[in-house]
Amino acid sequence: MFSLKYIVLSTLATVATAYFTRKIYIHQSCVNHYNPLSILGYRFLMKISYCKNKIDKRIKQAKENLQKEFISNTMDEMLVLSIPEKPMLKDVIIDRLHRLQKDDCKWKEGRAFGYIYHGGEEHSNLLNTAYEMYAHTNPLHASAFLSVRILESEVIRMTARMLNGDDSTCGTMTSGGSESIILAVKAARDYFLSKRPNSKPEMICCNTVHAAFIKAAKYFDIKVIITKLDKDYRANPDLYSRNITSNTMMMVVSAPCYPYGIIDRIEEISQLACKNKIWLHVDSCLGGFVLPWMEEAGYSIPKFDFSLPGVTTISCDTHKYGYSSKGSSVILYRNPDYRKYQYFCWSKWTGGLFASPSITGSRPGGIISAAWTSLVSIGRSGYINYVRELMGSTVKLQKAINEIDEIIVIGQPNMCVFAFKSNNNKLDIFVLADNLENKGWFIERQQNPNSLHLTITLRHTKIIDEFICDLMSSIRESIGIRPSGKAAIYGSAVAITNPEVIDDILIHYTGLVNDGIDNCGILAIT
Ligand SMILES: Cc1ncc(COP(=O)(O)O)c(C=O)c1O
Repeated sequence: MFSLKYIVLSTLATVATAYFTRKIYIHQSCVNHYNPLSILGYRFLMKISYCKNKIDKRIKQAKENLQKEFISNTMDEMLVLSIPEKPMLKDVIIDRLHRLQKDDCKWKEGRAFGYIYHGGEEHSNLLNTAYEMYAHTNPLHASAFLSVRILESEVIRMTARMLNGDDSTCGTMTSGGSESIILAVKAARDYFLSKRPNSKPEMICCNTVHAAFIKAAKYFDIKVIITKLDKDYRANPDLYSRNITSNTMMMVVSAPCYPYGIIDRIEEISQLACKNKIWLHVDSCLGGFVLPWMEEAGYSIPKFDFSLPGVTTISCDTHKYGYSSKGSSVILYRNPDYRKYQYFCWSKWTGGLFASPSITGSRPGGIISAAWTSLVSIGRSGYINYVRELMGSTVKLQKAINEIDEIIVIGQPNMCVFAFKSNNNKLDIFVLADNLENKGWFIERQQNPNSLHLTITLRHTKIIDEFICDLMSSIRESIGIRPSGKAAIYGSAVAITNPEVIDDILIHYTGLVNDGIDNCGILAIT
């Protein structure tokens, strides 16, 4: 017989477990501002085996939900799980590569509002030729490939001049925005530690800086201070100033930030950097190849680059609005005295003296050659024309959005990237996202506030009217509809307050992306 005490305790435990795990239905990479009480409560419950079992069961269920999404994309495919005994025929290979793409988003038709920055078929073919010519070169071995060294230093020089660098401005090509950011953080830390050897470095940023900064801080054991934005959704110089300590090794701003496409108050933060002699990084991964042409295209923007004396480093992605193939970015330093802290050297290796500029060892000469080709084949006039086209579509779309009562653009975006949110409690923005997705539009969901993110690229300029039409009809269909399906999943995902639960599920999600197929060809449940 169960005692009364047992029944009361188990009921309490069940209620508490349900409370702390009520939102475990995560879909994608959603994190939240965590409630410390909830974290403590969760940790306490996990110590009680009854609650732990319940929580584990819910987490397992959430993981299985994720799995179902992946299964639908791969189950009809003949999976290749071992290296084939005999070589696969060329036609079979190409056919399979084509068939696998059938479930991808229809980015060529402008249906994806993110990730892809394509300069057109002809441009793409030219980049492929450039890639092919250098595909097997490796500038890690600098003396063997003078050609790639020249191409890389020309890309760096062209990017530095575009961003108002002078003859001392220098840099390195990397594999993408995140690597550029990680290297800038590493260089800033090592520079700081060279001056203050036993300190505990801190980085000041705001909540719109790219996640790669937090990643870098985690990699390098740096304390991150995340400040709130000002009323216009920009990094707040007062809060940066208030958080400066003797351990501040770096401040980070964006031009523009990914979530809202807004440029931070860089001029004021640059003054702070000069006054306090602190390393200032400007993340222009997204805007680096758009903002420099805005003035000539007829749009004004605040200063953001090396023309501001406090700016130490800038990250700028050739593989975004530089229209190069994926896998390239540039990290720029005001002068070589800063850049040297990025490098890695090891003179005691049995394999010989080793020196490497970036995170990777071997480096892809083909990607460098494609990036060089992209910059020179588009040229200044080409980039300016592209910005005119992009901004024309952006302004049109923003005007249409702001004329619809139920939605509103967030802040005053500075370029062709922005977000919009619901302006009416009868419209759930994630229900709208689902309805747009049913019409074939792939749009990123964001949180705090819940919103939808649009990156306007050349692929969208021809179909912007069609999108506006679908947006209006989708709003009509969404008003008053309660979230279900994906909208409900997103809605509850952004409300999770336990970072340990989210991290556990995100790690599982990332594992699924990498290796979710077992020997039976079925995604494994781990
Ligand atoms: C502002 C900003 N910084 C950094 C990154 C990271 O770039 P990547 O995805 O190439 O690593 C992005 C990506 O969208 C970005 O928008």
